[in-house]
Amino acid sequence: MIKHKDHFHGSDLEKIEKIYGIKKEDIISFSANVNPLGISPKLKKGITEQIDCISTYPDRDYRKLRQCMADYCSTEADNIVVGNGSTELISLFIQIKQPQKALILGPTYSEYEREIALVGGKTIYYPLKEENEFKLNTEHFISKLSEDIDMLIICNPNNPTGTAINAHEMRKILDACKEYDIFVMVDETYVEFAEDVKSISSVSLTRTYENIAILRGTSKFFASPGLRLGYAICSNADMIHEINRRKDPWTINSIAVIAGTLMFTDEEYIKETRELISAERERLFKIFSESTRFKPFKPEGNFMLLKIIEDGLTSGELFDKCIRKGLMIRDCSTFPYLGENFIRFCFMNPEDNTKLASLLLG
Ligand SMILES: Cc1ncc(COP(=O)(O)O)c(C=O)c1O
Repeated sequence: MIKHKDHFHGSDLEKIEKIYGIKKEDIISFSANVNPLGISPKLKKGITEQIDCISTYPDRDYRKLRQCMADYCSTEADNIVVGNGSTELISLFIQIKQPQKALILGPTYSEYEREIALVGGKTIYYPLKEENEFKLNTEHFISKLSEDIDMLIICNPNNPTGTAINAHEMRKILDACKEYDIFVMVDETYVEFAEDVKSISSVSLTRTYENIAILRGTSKFFASPGLRLGYAICSNADMIHEINRRKDPWTINSIAVIAGTLMFTDEEYIKETRELISAERERLFKIFSESTRFKPFKPEGNFMLLKIIEDGLTSGELFDKCIRKGLMIRDCSTFPYLGENFIRFCFMNPEDNTKLASLLLG
């Protein structure tokens, strides 16, 4: 087995190619959490017809794109800020808020902590407990909030646990945070894969709360991580103004603008994606629930966290076994609170999922 100090992010195919000698074209990435259908057909067809768009600068205010995003997620264009992937927005919101002490629900995506450290802030984690299936106990969590915390970051549905907080619970959290003057950043990168998006998404709460910003991207649901298109929803006009003041102009290129307007309106593709993920989520959860080797945690997004319960088997060994067959899973040992006995994989096409399940269970 190859011992790797670093974990492999879902996008590290070049690194895998070098270490394992497997061509990146031959790897099925179960670790990037990207829609297996590939890009929207409407986008594929439309973009070539409009490729001349790159001969002019994009609209600095991105009015048409913001309106399209607003229609897509039922809000107003004034509440939308666009970014070069949600990554640019994570960074911008943190730079503006300059949190001294940020609270993060963990285990979660590592980028938040990195950005907080870059502005000199301290991160503390509120642990989602395995014995609660990694679900949040809202009342207990609220009782731990205090005035010295200035920012709260929640990934919803959460990567890597797959658990989600519904809008009703989020309202309680926002009320408590308002009292302590805590700004809440909710990363909804995976929300569109959820069975009932409306019940989980906090977008409707931005109508009443100004202490929340929601981050979304197109990398995962619209299978376009190379496009670098993300957006934030926030009704706090001062905050939006500050973001726009600080942001470099034109960080979203003209191709991404056209791509956005095409993909957000590809209803057929959106429906097909949701149906595929929903069916595979149910099927795979059932398969792994019946296994004696793994315990799956109920997923709300397009990926599933598994605990290895068979003695002597580690996440590193499973990663190694799968990658040798060209199937790349996520070894979760580098996530805080998860040790060497957790792996995560996303739902790809049914045949590929079946292949992975057989390998993991065999
Ligand atoms: C929870 C979460 N947020 C944000 C990102 C980055 O997304 P983007 O490509 O939109 O910058 C990722 C990527 O893995 C992620 O898992």
